[in-house]
Amino acid sequence: MKPDDKKFWEQLTDKNDRWRKKRKGKEDFQTINAVIDGNTTKILSGLQSKGIIDSISGTIASGKESGVFLAELGSKGKLKCDDLSIQSPIVIKIFRTSTLNFRTIEKYISGDIRFRKYSKKTRSLVKLWVEKEYRNLSRCMLAGVNVPKPILVKNNVLLMELIGQNGIPSPLLKVSPNEATQPMMNAILDQIKRVYQKAGLVHADLSPYNILIKESTPYLIDMSQSVTTSHPKAEEFLERDLDNILYYFSKRGIKTPEAESVLDSIVDNETKTDEDKISRQ
Ligand SMILES: Nc1ncnc2c1ncn2[C@@H]1O[C@H](COP(=O)(O)OP(=O)(O)O)[C@@H](O)[C@H]1O
Ligand SMILES: [Mg+2]
Repeated sequence: MKPDDKKFWEQLTDKNDRWRKKRKGKEDFQTINAVIDGNTTKILSGLQSKGIIDSISGTIASGKESGVFLAELGSKGKLKCDDLSIQSPIVIKIFRTSTLNFRTIEKYISGDIRFRKYSKKTRSLVKLWVEKEYRNLSRCMLAGVNVPKPILVKNNVLLMELIGQNGIPSPLLKVSPNEATQPMMNAILDQIKRVYQKAGLVHADLSPYNILIKESTPYLIDMSQSVTTSHPKAEEFLERDLDNILYYFSKRGIKTPEAESVLDSIVDNETKTDEDKISRQ
């Protein structure tokens, strides 16, 4: 079936309809249509015909710059994911090429040693932005940070592990009031430290909106803007991340340390060795 055929989408989304039946009928389909242009349709169709994915089975979130969907793996996808210990369903994050804010993006690309030269054409920038999320997740995964394992990236489409249980995505910290505890705050600060010291990165957009809680364990998501620790603004971004997290917990009555002392304990010169080790990722 051709990707520009209307039936293509009906077939792709109807084939495995567990989620949609549970939810609000046509809304998912409308969300998918809103994020997807002709090129994206071609990419998804390619992934389907190669057996990487079998069908899109639901919508998780739809924002200004991306749509996040659940997808069932195809036979080839299953083989690839077996190696990574990832089970179906997985997550497909589709970046909307028309709404990405390029001025914002550039702040996080220029200054990152991995992207010394890059094209400023819209399509190439989007591609780079999505690849950046893939590479950041992959560095974090290798460094033992709790992140969704990335599976593959193709232009504006990123496939990754679902953080969830029985096919249901885990909730954000933001909507998990019972998780606003001292141990949770400490666990998140540990993750931030690991991202810096072991993965050589700063998340740079960390907040309770980009942390999922699965079995009382925090998982960091949404890493396209994450930069290497050598970025000129790395410490500024790190301080902002820490402020966001500490503010959230202090508002909920948790005793929080000073951002500055946490920052000092994270940033120390010996960490550069770790960055060098994985800087090729
Ligand atoms: N791997 C994942 N597992 C489960 N839910 C996810 C995953 N990735 C993203 N989500 C959900 O999708 C939403 C949007 O994803 P995110 O990567 O934060 O994109 P955006 O740039 O639009 O904020 C998140 O708030 C989260 O609820
Ligand atoms: Mg987000």
